[in-house]
Amino acid sequence: MPSVEVRPGIYWIGVNDHTTDLFEGLWPITQEGVSYNSYLIVDQKNAIVDLAKSLKVDEYLAQMNEHIPLESLNYIILNHMEPDHTGVLRILRKLAPQAVILCSPQAKDMVSAFYGISEGVQVVRDGERIDLGEKKLVFYHVPMVHWPETMVTYEEKTRVLFSCDAFGGYGALQGAIFEDECPQFDFYIRESLRYFANIVAKYSAMVLKAIEKLSPLSISIVAPSHGLIWRKNPGRIIELYRKWSQYAESGGEVGVTLLYGSMYGNTEAMVDALAQGIAESGVQVDMFDARRVHPSYILASLWEKKGVVVGAPTYEAGLFPPVAQVLDLALRKNVKHKRAMYLGSFGWSGGARREVERFARELGWEMTVAFEFHGGGTKEDRQRIQQLGREFGASLRG
Ligand code: FEO
Repeated sequence: MPSVEVRPGIYWIGVNDHTTDLFEGLWPITQEGVSYNSYLIVDQKNAIVDLAKSLKVDEYLAQMNEHIPLESLNYIILNHMEPDHTGVLRILRKLAPQAVILCSPQAKDMVSAFYGISEGVQVVRDGERIDLGEKKLVFYHVPMVHWPETMVTYEEKTRVLFSCDAFGGYGALQGAIFEDECPQFDFYIRESLRYFANIVAKYSAMVLKAIEKLSPLSISIVAPSHGLIWRKNPGRIIELYRKWSQYAESGGEVGVTLLYGSMYGNTEAMVDALAQGIAESGVQVDMFDARRVHPSYILASLWEKKGVVVGAPTYEAGLFPPVAQVLDLALRKNVKHKRAMYLGSFGWSGGARREVERFARELGWEMTVAFEFHGGGTKEDRQRIQQLGREFGASLRG
């Protein structure tokens, strides 16, 4: 993809990744792809803000060469050291050895650890300013958004915020790089939430701190290092990130994530009855079959919705493993403050219920109902479960 002018003298020169199956080796992006947005600033001194994964390197360097020869690059700014933004650093250092690497104090050791580079690395303090000519860059440290060394870069003349992981999302760019020219807007919002839930939600308190810290800035463009660039309404993505971060304490909005698994269809039949009851209460239910849907997608719903239903049979005196795997991930990601219920079938002894209740205790979820039934359950069980669904939905609305 050719470079794109973001503002006079500022160019997007990113890489669109359509070939990586798992972002961070964990999160599926086979269908969605992802972009590594890198920004070239051309002035009396030239700087590049964030790099890219080591992929399509020829294309990446050619984009840069459209505007400057590599030997005239003065600064390489590393807002964040994760290799999706620094993978081409070693080759860029070889091709542009004169360019000074600017990074936070915590990043300096990482530059050495990841790439064996210790010369020509200059640490920038929180709030430090660098003069490029007409353009002036200011660095703000925003630890844990997404690693401890992370910072953002703000250009004062054009009021562009280069925010790296913050305000980013999955989804390779499909021609349009700005939100106001993008026909697939809903796709990018959905993928921003999934990215948020997978990557930064655990550090929501730090995201809120960062938003607060950056709030005095007048921002005309939010230019993250993944996904769309926000120029018509830059506040939109900041407010979405604020709202999603606040779910860490509030538990989310009215709605239910129904997460289930079933061995022979008995639990699934009851789950259907429960979903019917919840829908009758006027509350939206997002159903996920944990045997088939990757936890990445389930986490996004879990993060957003206040209500959780776990439907899973007992398996070897414990919880059905595909469902247990999702709850384990929810625990690692601090998906807290939910209102929950459990239902599931057992053959000769229970056990799943005990395990779900243990997860709920550790997650701080309020377990309203736990309903275990023997084998296929009875007609009365089904009616009872449908009624429980109505009551659960009503309790969320209330
Ligand atoms: Fe996009 Fe935390 O790297």
